[in-house]
Amino acid sequence: MLCHNTYKRNKKAPPLVAINQVYLRIYDNNWTVAQEQIKFFLENPTEENVVMKPALKKFGLMPKLVFDANNTNDFAQVLVETEFEIPDWFNAHYIEHNLSKR
Ligand code: HEM
Repeated sequence: MLCHNTYKRNKKAPPLVAINQVYLRIYDNNWTVAQEQIKFFLENPTEENVVMKPALKKFGLMPKLVFDANNTNDFAQVLVETEFEIPDWFNAHYIEHNLSKR
């Protein structure tokens, strides 16, 4: 996907696997709530609503994308429900940046 390459580290946006992990962690693996919160963010991508603050600092705020409500829900669902493989660099990344796993 444009910007959020699923597994690679890039200069544009956090990979989808990171978003999946962070939202599921914050919302205690509650898929329904994680999906609702992602949907909410996609509809209201403001700095206050960003959960991944280190990503905000690194990449800036995500642009508001124009989709209809069904698409927003589908994207949120896919992001939550996909079982992403964890890339090798991922745990090292957490340690390197001292990111909390809460
Ligand atoms: C279907 C398309 C997309 C979906 C579902 C999506 C979803 C998300 C989600 C859920 C987050 C995490 C927000 C948080 O931290 O709470 C995020 C962050 C981000 N996205 Fe996207 N995104 C999409 C497209 C894009 C595109 C096209 C760009 C770049 C042009 C982009 C750039 C970013 C950036 C820079 C961040 C990190 C900063 C922030 O959280 O705002 N995204 N995205």
